Amino acid sequence: MDDQQRKIQLKKTFDTVAEGYGTTGMEFFHHAAAHLPRIFQLQGNEHLLDVATGTGIASTAIAPHLPHGKVIGIDLSEGMLAQARARAQLLGISNIETYAMDMQHITFENASFDAANCSFGIFFLPDMQSLLQHITSKVKPGGQVVISSFYQNAFQPNLDLFLTRIQRYNITPPAFGWNSISTEDRLHALYASAGLRDIQIHRFDVGYFLNDPEDWWRIIWYAGFRGLVAQLSATQLTEFKQQHLSEIAALSTEQGIPLNVSVLFASGRAN
Ligand SMILES: C[S@@+](CC[C@H](N)C(=O)[O-])C[C@H]1O[C@@H](n2cnc3c(N)ncnc32)[C@H](O)[C@@H]1O
Repeated sequence: MDDQQRKIQLKKTFDTVAEGYGTTGMEFFHHAAAHLPRIFQLQGNEHLLDVATGTGIASTAIAPHLPHGKVIGIDLSEGMLAQARARAQLLGISNIETYAMDMQHITFENASFDAANCSFGIFFLPDMQSLLQHITSKVKPGGQVVISSFYQNAFQPNLDLFLTRIQRYNITPPAFGWNSISTEDRLHALYASAGLRDIQIHRFDVGYFLNDPEDWWRIIWYAGFRGLVAQLSATQLTEFKQQHLSEIAALSTEQGIPLNVSVLFASGRAN
């Protein structure tokens, strides 16, 4: 699959999952976004570009901290953007604009933003260094560029159980791009290679307990793995879900099913 085909596939997947993305079971996206206002050192009047804004979880966490500024969110998926607009409206937030745009070809002028954010989006393109440089080129000298990504072993052991089982159906999972930046050192190296300065890396545990196996299934279904399970026939899907959720149920504790997720945040400044 070439880059263009991968993008078409991604857009289709996110258009499909948009309605359920970030809902029950997927609170980790919200917990992660809650750290952003502290990581950005905002004056309150900035114009902040939110790359791969999705359903606006990060942009709606940041926008209230910009009473005289605004967030400009871009995403490939119109379906995700529609949810972002609905979320902003529901929260009464009016300083967010959204545009359908490929993050690899951001059409705003260079150095037109005070800061940029990209939560859980950078790893969708194989050349993260070029992408980070492209995002940074849209930020004024000295402006902050922040990305969030998963720390190593996120979603384990659930994810390995899922991947092992789906391979029994001759479905080959893709290499997850986040693995190549899943430690402090690797993320720091990415920022350094893209020429950012004043680099800081933070790690926060955003995990919790899922109520039941269906919560885990919602993560599979709505938060990025739909492309894999969609390859199963209806009969296979029923069988897969039942067998996989039994092994997930076996992980239950008195508090629920642990969802291990830590998130790395990188911050650096444009030159
Ligand atoms: C895992 S979601 C993250 C959304 C949001 N930032 C959050 O924190 O919940 C990844 C998003 O990246 C978007 N995306 C993937 N490739 C993209 C591209 N080339 N240009 C713009 N958006 C892209 C997807 O459409 C999706 O909305």
